[in-house]
Amino acid sequence: MAATVIDGKAFAANVREKVAGHVSRLKADHGITPGLAVVLVGEDPASEVYVRNKGKQTVEVGMASFEHKLDASTTQEELLALIDRLNNDPSVHGILCQLPVPDHIDGDTIINAIDPAKDVDGFHISNVGLLGTGQKSMVPCTPLGCLMMLRDHHGSLSGMDAVVIGRSNIVGKPMAQLLLGDSCTVTIAHSRTKDLPGTVRRADIVVAAVGRPEMVPGDWIKPGATVIDVGINRIPAPEKGEGKMKLVGDCDYASCAEVAGAITPVPGGVGPMTIACLLANTVTACCRANG
Ligand code: GUN
Repeated sequence: MAATVIDGKAFAANVREKVAGHVSRLKADHGITPGLAVVLVGEDPASEVYVRNKGKQTVEVGMASFEHKLDASTTQEELLALIDRLNNDPSVHGILCQLPVPDHIDGDTIINAIDPAKDVDGFHISNVGLLGTGQKSMVPCTPLGCLMMLRDHHGSLSGMDAVVIGRSNIVGKPMAQLLLGDSCTVTIAHSRTKDLPGTVRRADIVVAAVGRPEMVPGDWIKPGATVIDVGINRIPAPEKGEGKMKLVGDCDYASCAEVAGAITPVPGGVGPMTIACLLANTVTACCRANG
């Protein structure tokens, strides 16, 4: 039987609608407008697209958007000075510094300079520790979006076998913590995992977050399993015409969709949820800051 397609685009629209409702109540009842500051250093084209989309959607839900686009030659000290200003600006409730930063800047130093209460990415070491110990924290946006879709599809995840493929700080590790928090039995698989196909075949939930186009074939998927594809990879699409490109995930969609019980498409699955969760985190930060 063909898999249920989990519609991340519709899900994200729903999250944004709820966020917009919160924002209008904060404005009407408390005179507060949540504000999100996004910092981009350099001219990475993919990052520029993300940042533009973030700014647009922030404004669409009624929040204030502060964009800081800095030259690639910006020094670490200059960037730290900007973070310090944003930390102390009461109209800014969330701060995001787009990663990666140029090589002469230490990403960890920048992330850990952000006030943890304004760290809407959930990357600050305090938030990582709080999440890992099951305490209230800012939760990284992409894994949070995946968890929301999984909970919506399954209800309880308790006791399910989950395999997360990829061990990045942005997705793999926090995803594993969230699934553990929902009482899954969690395996983090990666490039050195001995029997990746066999490991994935045991999973009721597969989250693929490696950034390798169509790496997971359908015959790795247990029949009926739920497949969450975090990958967004741009590859040549000669079938669309010479020089054309297309977006694919880390899973081979056609073969996985034949076996899985449910699957997120690429595009239109996890991607739209990331920015929706960023907006939700900004409202959360704003509410916590204002008691
Ligand atoms: N680069 C790729 N994904 C992300 C993200 O979720 N947050 C930030 N800050 N940078 C990223």
